[in-house]
Amino acid sequence: MTINLHPVDIFSTPITIIECSNWLKKKPKLLALNSNKKIIGDVGYDECSTDYYSENVERNYVKQFTEILIDEFSEFSKYFLNQNPMFNDLIIDTVWTQTYTKTQGMPSHTHGYGLISGVLYVDFDDTHEGTVFQSPVNDPYMGGTVTWTPPVKEGDIVLFPSNIIHYSRASQSEVERTIIAFNIRLPH
Ligand SMILES: [Fe+2]
Repeated sequence: MTINLHPVDIFSTPITIIECSNWLKKKPKLLALNSNKKIIGDVGYDECSTDYYSENVERNYVKQFTEILIDEFSEFSKYFLNQNPMFNDLIIDTVWTQTYTKTQGMPSHTHGYGLISGVLYVDFDDTHEGTVFQSPVNDPYMGGTVTWTPPVKEGDIVLFPSNIIHYSRASQSEVERTIIAFNIRLPH
């Protein structure tokens, strides 16, 4: 007698890593977008410099950001809309910058539901660590949380569903780490 077993892996999370083309040309343009970072002190393990809480007029660089990365976003848009035909378009509607020095990090959070969120590693070297993502599903046998840190390098973009919990561990590096974060709306 043959007993058939049918293992199935369920509850996967779609994440895409994009390597920016012509990175060395794009990097200075991206770093120049935010000239008005403000220190915040009560949201992280320590604090970081960000313009997230600035008025929109002070970080109104969505258009420039999108233009600099138009090739990357066009390619992703084509792929995503093909995979998810219920959506009509992808629209980047919020962009902000965060710079971390030693001991600075960001606690667990999500960006809400119904968006694609992204992190672009703008100033990032071997002493830095990528964003840590936490699985919505705990380890099936041990019950603990499951995390994944993408193997990113400078110039990479990580795109993920906005409802996934993520965080940045406190930096151990003497070198500043700067990322640009953003949210993409999905009209349908
Ligand atoms: Fe985030």
